[in-house]
Amino acid sequence: MIGDRTTGRSDRLGSPSSGVLVTGGGSGIGRATALALAEVGRPVAVWDLDGQAAEATAAACAEQYGIAAHWERIDVTDSSALAERVPVVATELGSLGGFVHAAGVAGPMEVDSIDDEMWATTLDVNLRAGAMLAKAAIEPFTKAGPGSAAVLISSIEGLFGSSLLTAYCASKGGVLGVTRSIAQRFGREGFRINAVCPGAVDTPMLAPAFDLLPGFRGRLEERTPLHRVSSPDEIARPIRFLLSDEASFITGTHLTIDGGLTSITAI
Ligand SMILES: NC(=O)c1ccc[n+]([C@@H]2O[C@H](COP(=O)([O-])OP(=O)(O)OC[C@H]3O[C@@H](n4cnc5c(N)ncnc54)[C@H](O)[C@@H]3O)[C@@H](O)[C@H]2O)c1
Repeated sequence: MIGDRTTGRSDRLGSPSSGVLVTGGGSGIGRATALALAEVGRPVAVWDLDGQAAEATAAACAEQYGIAAHWERIDVTDSSALAERVPVVATELGSLGGFVHAAGVAGPMEVDSIDDEMWATTLDVNLRAGAMLAKAAIEPFTKAGPGSAAVLISSIEGLFGSSLLTAYCASKGGVLGVTRSIAQRFGREGFRINAVCPGAVDTPMLAPAFDLLPGFRGRLEERTPLHRVSSPDEIARPIRFLLSDEASFITGTHLTIDGGLTSITAI
């Protein structure tokens, strides 16, 4: 818990007590988000294609913060699994008042080399699964109450184009569209949904780009006003804020978290 350990006073940073499902919670931003939520006492369910990684995150949440933490190996592109397992998660956690769709894939693919399979995988994991999760969450969110909220992960690549990431850019731009659309449906029940647009984050997803492109990390850091890439925790804490009651009038929008990278123009 955050707060004054000497007085025993805890500060939940405006967080409801309902449980939160985090997809892609075995690694990177998803793992950091699960831990950040556990830190303020929210029960978490960690889903990932990599079951061992999901289990490790859930164990870390329970051990470090003493909260209920569940894990499961789930492929988020399997919509019937989402429909079946989301209500089970709600029962396991006691309630489900939030989800974060952090499962994602990125493959370098210029338009010249697009193929159907890679396009479909990228759009299915990054975009379709977030919308299907929102569909599955409506019933548990209704039971959990009007403070329920969700966060989808877009990217600065959803705001501008990158030639190497054609399908990825499409998926991340799409995330912003579905966020705006679902916010209207969710709003009828008092639920919220927002997206975050991270810049460069030090996770296993970005590591191959740093390995493959000599000097890329240095150029990126030089161009970024804060002159570094972010840690996963620097994305997780704003996500936790968007899920909390502190963000009670924020919905249908996105928060760019990029160290200022998109505030500059290259001439
Ligand atoms: N790292 C960055 O620089 C960066 C920047 C902007 C946006 N993002 C986005 O943040 C999100 C998290 O990325 P990350 O950097 O933490 O990557 P990561 O590779 O560390 O984690 C992604 C996780 O998603 C899981 N996953 C992939 N496909 C899945 C599937 N079908 N079902 C269930 N789980 C699946 C992976 O097993 C992995 O654990 C992604 O949507 C990514 O596009 C990342």
